[in-house]
Amino acid sequence: MPSTAAARAVPARCDLLMLGIETSCDDTAAAVVRGDGEILSQVVSSQADLLARYGGVAPKMAEEAHALVIDQVVQKALDDAKLSESDLSAVAVTIGPGLSLCLRVGVHKARQVAKAFGLPIVGVHHMEAHALVSRLVNKDLDFPFLALLISGGHNLLVLARGLGQYIQLGTTIDDAIGEAYDKSARWLGLDMRKGGGPALEELALEGDPNAVKFRVPMRQHKDCNFSYAGLKTQVRLAIESKNLCTEDVPISSASEEDRQSRANIAASFQRVAVLHLEERCHRAVEWALKMEPSIKYFVVSGGVASNKYVRTRLNQVAENNGLQLVSPPPSLCTDNGVMIAWTGIEHFVVGRFEDPPTDDEPDDMQTRIESSSSLSAGRAIASYPVLIRFSGRPGPANEDATQGPTKKQLQQ
Ligand code: KG4
Ligand code: ZN
Repeated sequence: MPSTAAARAVPARCDLLMLGIETSCDDTAAAVVRGDGEILSQVVSSQADLLARYGGVAPKMAEEAHALVIDQVVQKALDDAKLSESDLSAVAVTIGPGLSLCLRVGVHKARQVAKAFGLPIVGVHHMEAHALVSRLVNKDLDFPFLALLISGGHNLLVLARGLGQYIQLGTTIDDAIGEAYDKSARWLGLDMRKGGGPALEELALEGDPNAVKFRVPMRQHKDCNFSYAGLKTQVRLAIESKNLCTEDVPISSASEEDRQSRANIAASFQRVAVLHLEERCHRAVEWALKMEPSIKYFVVSGGVASNKYVRTRLNQVAENNGLQLVSPPPSLCTDNGVMIAWTGIEHFVVGRFEDPPTDDEPDDMQTRIESSSSLSAGRAIASYPVLIRFSGRPGPANEDATQGPTKKQLQQ
């Protein structure tokens, strides 16, 4: 149901000015985007140093780091866009999935700005934003399309039928590919300050991708789900079997021979990790085309989609199946405020937004946050597509998952 605020005068789409705020994990990001897709500003403050020091995202510490910079990040996004809050049409903010302590920082800031300036709020689903930012990048990209969303916590294959309407073709049964890159990079003693994924991608360029024989996951499962936990274990065992002292000796101090061994493991891991993506995507294209023969585009987005090897190999999958690959530039693949602002615009123009907070709303009001959703890992794992709707509105999870076509129907 559109909000009652839909009744108020909404500016023409090209005049809309949307502030987007993202704090679901370890990046504090904000951006201002115009209704026609022009990016007026984009600011990201990363917690890479914290990540490198503590080996992962500690929710309490991440929350504090967000709280420390959120005001500056939003102010810089406004300053860079040469705007003030009163010029904005609305505020979009990530409401999940993610770490709830971190999400709250962004939601609190969004409500504060919205209340002070009487702005509507659009609650945005993080994974939908990863998918929809591709429509900012390529204006010809209409629904329906197939999307692979690959990040630190998610590995999703979805058939996007319309705004807020996704059929989940596959998800991970354990870890996401980004998690496997990050852990492998750490175990190989790489410099985590540039991020585990980018560090491993760089080292892999020096290695032989066929040097270590890793098993490709889930070949016996004729579905579109993923698994990366086993591959992670294979990497750890390979490091142990070569007696590499990766914990004590960072890559920068490794001998030439040791560095080559690590590069071979990195390259072999990357080849198999991405081959697993290729195989599942190939099947997903077949499934998707049976359900929606008009599909022309294959979207690949999320942090891991900024990897050049991933993009090259998945471009091949798209071409082999007569589809066009759309993959946003790396700065729009990793977490950013632009994707939140843009998804906010997509929902706002169809009347899906919430009225500005009222004056009597306390500043510390807690908004219900979706710390998980049926598009997140671990739920709705099926060997057939699952229909998912989510409204993108703040509040309790508002999803209705029903079964799509059965596997048998797909095989017919
Ligand atoms: O979408 P994202 O920025 O944040 C989440 O929603 O999780 O994705 C972050 C993930 C991390 O696991 C990171 O290591 C991975 O994306 N990543 C990469 C690359 N750049 C980022 N993985 C492989 N190669 C890259 N170049
Ligand atoms: Zn993300």
